[in-house]
Amino acid sequence: MRRHDVVVVGAGLAGQRAALAAAQAGRDVAIVSKLHPLRSHSGAAQGGINAAVGAEDSVDTHIYDTVKGSDYLGDQDAIEFFCREAGSIVVEMEHFGTIFSRGADGSLARRAFGGAGFPRTIYAADRTGLALLQAIYEHLGTETITVYEEWDLVQLIVRDGRAQGIVAFDRKHGTFEEIAARAIVIATGPAGRVYSRTTNAHSCTGDGLAIAYRAGAWLKDMEFVQFHPTALLESGILITEGARGEGGILKNVNGDRFMTKYAPHVMDLASRDVVSRAITTEIAEGRGFPGEYVHLELMHLGKEKIESRLQEICDFSRNFAGVDPVNEPIPVRPGQHYMMGGISTNIRGETSIAGLYSAGEAACVSIHGANRLGGNSLLETLVFGKQAGIAAAEYALTAALPSITADDLSAAERPVRAMQAKKDGVEPLALRSEIQSVMDRWVGIYRNPADLGKAWDALADLRRRSSELRIIDQTSSYSVNLGEALETQHILDLAEVIVAGAIARTESRGAHARVDFPKRDDANWMKHTIAAFRPEGPQLSYAPVAYTRWDPKERVY
Ligand code: FUM
Repeated sequence: MRRHDVVVVGAGLAGQRAALAAAQAGRDVAIVSKLHPLRSHSGAAQGGINAAVGAEDSVDTHIYDTVKGSDYLGDQDAIEFFCREAGSIVVEMEHFGTIFSRGADGSLARRAFGGAGFPRTIYAADRTGLALLQAIYEHLGTETITVYEEWDLVQLIVRDGRAQGIVAFDRKHGTFEEIAARAIVIATGPAGRVYSRTTNAHSCTGDGLAIAYRAGAWLKDMEFVQFHPTALLESGILITEGARGEGGILKNVNGDRFMTKYAPHVMDLASRDVVSRAITTEIAEGRGFPGEYVHLELMHLGKEKIESRLQEICDFSRNFAGVDPVNEPIPVRPGQHYMMGGISTNIRGETSIAGLYSAGEAACVSIHGANRLGGNSLLETLVFGKQAGIAAAEYALTAALPSITADDLSAAERPVRAMQAKKDGVEPLALRSEIQSVMDRWVGIYRNPADLGKAWDALADLRRRSSELRIIDQTSSYSVNLGEALETQHILDLAEVIVAGAIARTESRGAHARVDFPKRDDANWMKHTIAAFRPEGPQLSYAPVAYTRWDPKERVY
């Protein structure tokens, strides 16, 4: 049986940073990932990474912006730690070889981003995630780390109150494999494919979240789902907030710059929840274009600026929407982009299960509270990936040998083999698209109790039908259908948690906008939602928000 001190599941920026930290601490480390590390979704992050580095900016302003952006649900002690780490994390990534864009004087170039009181988003054109991912992947080679590539996490083994190992599916060989581990870090990234209208890759199915949840880890604040204001029409590909940071403006069908009405001070650079609601309102009130979108105009910025700072979105617009941003507006509408919620952790990545850690989008520390600021996600992967790796390495040093058995392997394998043996049943992708339609339709930007109730009932029906899932593709090597069946079960579990939390939270805060409760209710709802797995559905409880210096105020932009 394979054994490692620390097993990191997920090979995006958070996973690689965690693995690096644990290996640098002297532990024997492995990464398990369903994708090649360079295909991780971190590579899709475009606009940049936040750090208050210049003399004119301050860490305190970054902290305040993040607290305000979170609509006062972010834990202020964690936010303080996060923003203080930012500068050294960016410098470290530069030393690892990241080629950041530069200003005329050679200093790190910075652009404005939504909800930020200062232009503090450091970038590499509009391919920042990819630039960081390539640099850290090269640096990973300085340590001896085993990478199990194209292996799906299937189960977490938790026994005697602690994580002991995992069962994974090796896509290439079609076999189930066990790995015993003294400590495990879940860094499997986003769960955006709970929706179909999303900027997230098809691989972003929340595998680690769902599997940790079923194994007993708590999920936190899952009802807070971020919709990015500018997803490209039809494909949903991200059009970076950096486009507005560089001076791009949103217009409705009448040619009006409508953000002047919703956020008179900062307009197009209000925080994402505000801009997404504004676009949705424009469309709902008949001021969108036929086909339900608005325009993002960049033409006034000029060809040179557009093509040098926003190369990737030029390519995306030309290739996927047939428009050239140099001469024409880009058709955009909001699309799911990020989950503020995730596996509940503290700043060391510790979860509710001993020996189990989490970081990156799979985790909820919570620094984003009810709404994340653009540019804080790349930073989160690196700051908390590193912390989780350090903490897991410390734990693994003294933890007893893990105890896993052949029965653990067969218990994880049996239900999957049963799906393969079925002669008829429900096709995983068909069920997945029904889950996504429920979420797109009834659990979007504006929420109301009737729609949430319909979503809950529809998911209960889909839950019943999920017992009939059938894996049609019987190939032993690269059975795509097998992966789809596992992923469909994950998104179903997570959709239930999102809807349960959204029904219960009778207020509007950040990205959770209830039309029947349009105001933030600090007296009753200044608290985190905690969801625990129960066979009959998620069990909700609540946990306090940590305060340091900032009293809640009305949030205006
Ligand atoms: O718009 C963007 O470039 C996205 C950045 C982020 O989500 O942090």
